[in-house]
Amino acid sequence: MTITATTAALLAPASAPTSVVSWVERIAALTQPDSIHWCDGSPSERAALIETLVDAGTLTPLNPDLRPGSYLARSHPEDVARVESRTFICSPTPDGAGPTNNWADPAEMRETLDGLFEGSMRGRTMYVVPFSMGPVGSPLARVGVQVTDSPYVVVSTGTMTRMGANALAQIGPETEWVPAVHSVGAPLSPGDTDVPWPCNDTKYIVHYPHDREIWSFGSAYGGNAILAKKAFALRIASAMGRDEGWLAAHMLLLKVTNPRGKTFHVAAAFPSACGKTNFAMLQPSIPGWTVETIGDDIAWLAPGPDGRLRAINPEAGFFGVAPGTGQSTNPVAVDMLQRDVIFTNVALTDDGDVWWEGLTEEPPAHLTDWRGNDWTPDSPTPAAHPNSRFTVSASQCPTIADTWDDPAGVPVDAIIFGGRRATNVPLVTQARSWEHGVYLGATLASERTAAAEGVVGELRRDPFAMMPFSGTHMADHWQHWLDVGTTLEAAGGAPAIFQVNWFRKGDDGRFLWPGFAENARVLAWILDRVEGRNSYVDGPLGRMPVDGAINYAAAGVPRADWDALFDVDEAMLTAEADDTGRFLEGYGDAVPTVLRQQHAQLRSRLAEIPPH
Ligand code: OXD
Ligand code: MN
Repeated sequence: MTITATTAALLAPASAPTSVVSWVERIAALTQPDSIHWCDGSPSERAALIETLVDAGTLTPLNPDLRPGSYLARSHPEDVARVESRTFICSPTPDGAGPTNNWADPAEMRETLDGLFEGSMRGRTMYVVPFSMGPVGSPLARVGVQVTDSPYVVVSTGTMTRMGANALAQIGPETEWVPAVHSVGAPLSPGDTDVPWPCNDTKYIVHYPHDREIWSFGSAYGGNAILAKKAFALRIASAMGRDEGWLAAHMLLLKVTNPRGKTFHVAAAFPSACGKTNFAMLQPSIPGWTVETIGDDIAWLAPGPDGRLRAINPEAGFFGVAPGTGQSTNPVAVDMLQRDVIFTNVALTDDGDVWWEGLTEEPPAHLTDWRGNDWTPDSPTPAAHPNSRFTVSASQCPTIADTWDDPAGVPVDAIIFGGRRATNVPLVTQARSWEHGVYLGATLASERTAAAEGVVGELRRDPFAMMPFSGTHMADHWQHWLDVGTTLEAAGGAPAIFQVNWFRKGDDGRFLWPGFAENARVLAWILDRVEGRNSYVDGPLGRMPVDGAINYAAAGVPRADWDALFDVDEAMLTAEADDTGRFLEGYGDAVPTVLRQQHAQLRSRLAEIPPH
């Protein structure tokens, strides 16, 4: 069937808002799908989509006795991660995107995309996928509608967001909603047979922050295709937040209760694949402390009516990195993944279950690897792709906080910035002020991981862990954080800011800190600081625990390692500060004066350190 504008309108649910129907008609006329399906988000719809995906070979059902309700997807071997080099911020002028985003002229990009999308859905179904980021109806939530020709993306969006009729019902005549157009770019002619993972070598992930609009072509993987996540909840939302006075943050959210029964909320930014999901599901090693999960990846933060910063997790599921998730590192996730999970690019066991590096200490003797090849422990390549993922509903998380979907959000007491740093960055420091905290966030750096293309291990600046996710000029993002801080400080509600580094290594290459459950000791110090219950020593990099404030011996850390975790090497830190200076210069005049002042203050504190 050829879809004409009129048939598109006829297929829409009676309640569909006119603005959405006419947009769907336009996109259908351009992409020329065979049919249109308006998603209602019902369980029967999900079951039917999964059946379609199993028939197409995209999903393989796992053994229902071992992993009920769960499936394995194997992507095209070239479609395995976010493609930052093909991600564009098409603000009206290059200044809107800044020097660290790929900018393209919006009019030219629209022409290019019109060419690519013309007929791109031929032979396929176009799904119309309405979704709410944040609890439906929350004042902090925002709605979007994605059209896509990938049923895998529909099912994933169904887990990652509140998807369907309830979200669509939020769109009134005046409601601002974010349109997101996605095509795998693999039209089918009559008689063509489809492949299990259709995609295209040409890829574009395009954002028009000014128009609050997203277009993505050629990939079906993760953030390239599940546009609610990185494209909307971070890139478009960072532009919305700047204009509306709130913050879109690449942060996990925790609820923590101390032994005295006092509850805190913590937001923490880490670059991709630095263990955010593990930290979000932390099982404290210290008695009396409880950690509950609110989110593992994205937080929307807004000054609340009481002057405090309030946070929601805009997502409804976890799209977590599988490798490194195991009984010893994240027992909560291991529990959470027992049923009703879609795995992508992990290995398949001979009895129809899944495996990835780190799930168990001993690998099985035989597996089918993520590409579908035989694998044994002697194989030279990993069984699971390093960026292989699980997609699972947040409600399945055993440690999910009862307030995780509170429409009012939760009040934030502490903000943490972390990275993967073998040297220089201490286990924990507290920023002296909001301005100093923004400087720590702005100059954050981390060793590269497999979540995106690039050389793994290379040090990369990742300000606010937002380098790949900012829909604005990065320096505007910093200024916006400074401005929101001013508002919060005026109301007396600014959270304290900290920096952590679980990944510092000794000269012999060993990790100095055991991490995981023991990170609770650091969290406890942080929250005792928030309450003013403990004291600190002032160092050149910030406030650090006094001797004895953290029981490192109980974490199995020898005194020498503990000292090394806080070692301040003047020569190395000066070299890093030189590099930070060059990094800031890359943003030219746009760097807020406050951050230049913070940098100058760091340099003068470093100059006072006696040489090693
Ligand atoms: C993610 C990422 O997928 O940060 O969460 O890359
Ligand atoms: Mn992320």
